[in-house]
Amino acid sequence: MTASLIVGNWKMYLSYHQAVAWLTTHKDELNILIKDTHHQLVFCPSFDALGSTITSVTRTNIKIGAQDCSAYAAGPYTGQVCAQSLKEIGCSYVIIGHSETRKSIKNSTQLSVLKTALAYENNLTPIVCVGETKDKYLAGTGLKVIEEQLRPVLETYKTQTKELIIAYEPIWSIGTGMIPETAYLNSIYSYIIKRCSKMGIQRVPLLLYGGSVDETTILKLRDVPLIQGYLIGKASTDFQKLKKIVKLV
Ligand code: PGA
Repeated sequence: MTASLIVGNWKMYLSYHQAVAWLTTHKDELNILIKDTHHQLVFCPSFDALGSTITSVTRTNIKIGAQDCSAYAAGPYTGQVCAQSLKEIGCSYVIIGHSETRKSIKNSTQLSVLKTALAYENNLTPIVCVGETKDKYLAGTGLKVIEEQLRPVLETYKTQTKELIIAYEPIWSIGTGMIPETAYLNSIYSYIIKRCSKMGIQRVPLLLYGGSVDETTILKLRDVPLIQGYLIGKASTDFQKLKKIVKLV
């Protein structure tokens, strides 16, 4: 079994109290589980719960990440949170360009590039999400979308010595229970690897899959050798499900 990175994207499923209580209750069992399996486990609660959840996982190997950050270092940006603050409170990771933020607050690939650069400046590991809509998938142009979303981010990464995590999350799979066929997944990940090599990138980013990962779909997904970890939404808020997934990966 190879070690995988498992990231729980808690979106806005849990309130502040619920998120802190969840981790306080389950952190010890999860910590033993990841020590046994050698997987890495990261939770991304909403901004308000970051500080308290970071405190709650001290003395475990569990890490905490944010679900987004501002594309600007500081200034008059009402409602935004800068990468520097995330680092100061003890975050290790930041999710960038999730399709839900692309839709709800008009995040764009251009903003993903700025955010990735700020994550690096502040020693946060960026988890950059890419993925096509159902229309593009059905039209057979998914790879083109991935290319457009990925290339500018890879340009930023090219000169970096730090880690980049790419989460391929087909939008049509998020929250729907549907996952892509193995052959399609193979083509996407192989494409990303080839893209990196064409750009002269020696260290291929760590490649995650996200979209309807649960204790059932994982049985198919774990057969795709190029997937090195998972970005899990809804199922990561259910302790029993998450435990099963971690054991099955
Ligand atoms: P899901 O969400 O696992 O609930 O489909 C994944 C994600 O959006 O990151």
